[in-house]
Amino acid sequence: MKERFKSAIKGNSFIVWLRIIYEKIGESFSLTLYNGSTNQTKDIYKKQAELQIRIHALEKGMSIGRVRVGFGKEKAFSLIEDLADLLKKGGSKQFVVESVSVLQKYIEFNENMGAAMADIEIALNKLCSCYNIKSNDVGGIYNLSLKDVSSKTQCPFDSFSQSRFSIRDFGDSPLDIDKVYAALKLCERTPSACNRQSWVIHVYTENKLVEKMFKLQGGSKGFYEQMQCAILICGDLRNYDFYEQNLPFVDGGLYAMNLLYSLHYNGLATIPLTMGHKWRVIKKIKQEMNIPGNEIPVLLIGVGTYKDDFKVAVSHRYSYKQYVKFNQ
Ligand SMILES: Cc1cc2nc3c(=O)[nH]c(=O)nc-3n(C[C@H](O)[C@H](O)[C@H](O)COP(=O)(O)O)c2cc1C
Repeated sequence: MKERFKSAIKGNSFIVWLRIIYEKIGESFSLTLYNGSTNQTKDIYKKQAELQIRIHALEKGMSIGRVRVGFGKEKAFSLIEDLADLLKKGGSKQFVVESVSVLQKYIEFNENMGAAMADIEIALNKLCSCYNIKSNDVGGIYNLSLKDVSSKTQCPFDSFSQSRFSIRDFGDSPLDIDKVYAALKLCERTPSACNRQSWVIHVYTENKLVEKMFKLQGGSKGFYEQMQCAILICGDLRNYDFYEQNLPFVDGGLYAMNLLYSLHYNGLATIPLTMGHKWRVIKKIKQEMNIPGNEIPVLLIGVGTYKDDFKVAVSHRYSYKQYVKFNQ
């Protein structure tokens, strides 16, 4: 009798709602303290993280196939100002050196396309001379070819994994859907918490749906028209307890990385696209795309074919020694 009462209470929606609220309130304290939205002016780490996103936006711009000549000038000016401010506040010089390198590549890139960039160049040179900054040739774009990529997709993991890039410069040869099926087949082996395999994968190949999905996601302006398939990875909330609300993102994230590699292995060009939106935006996306309420979007993957010659953003990586802590 006591056990039956206990399990009735445990499964009661109102009780579970209260427990979720309690968990979320608990989490919200450290989230408020530590997330990137608060205290950016005083917390140099957070400021740097915000600048990193803006610097990468310029790099992304350069890797878009049909980019506008002279794009992003206002963004570049405000970045130069904010980098100077970061140094004044004691921010990392190494970070500024790397950011300046991306800005220099950005100037060169636009000049080569015929844009007038002298004003930005003057502002950047001023920053460099004020703080004795020498750029280090990091960042910008790589020019790659389908031949390069194809020679590496079936290689051992060390070469294979280093040859995957996010593509924003797609080809127009038709996408072979059998390659998508083959990639999905490979991903059946993705690990998940307690082997729950809670993902639901929505594959869109019809033009109207593909376009609608990318427009709703919003992070592929300038190149969504060139992608032929959208794959939305969702987690099914029914598989998770009230204290496991982040686990669908872990399981779905593992699936997503596996799928990116599997699509790459099958010779398809891909890009991961964030589903980290406000709750109301996610709600709208789910409504418009007929995603049932029990599913939570984790990541969107844009898929297309390669051009013979294309460009990608370098997206410079930190050495693992900067963030791996052994026995500390
Ligand atoms: C979770 C996630 C969300 C992303 N969202 C976007 C996006 O909305 N738009 C975009 O152009 N790139 C997006 N990217 C691509 C990243 O910019 C890219 O993965 C990163 O710069 C590393 O470059 P690489 O994928 O070429 O190695 C996303 C990547 C991840 C992992």
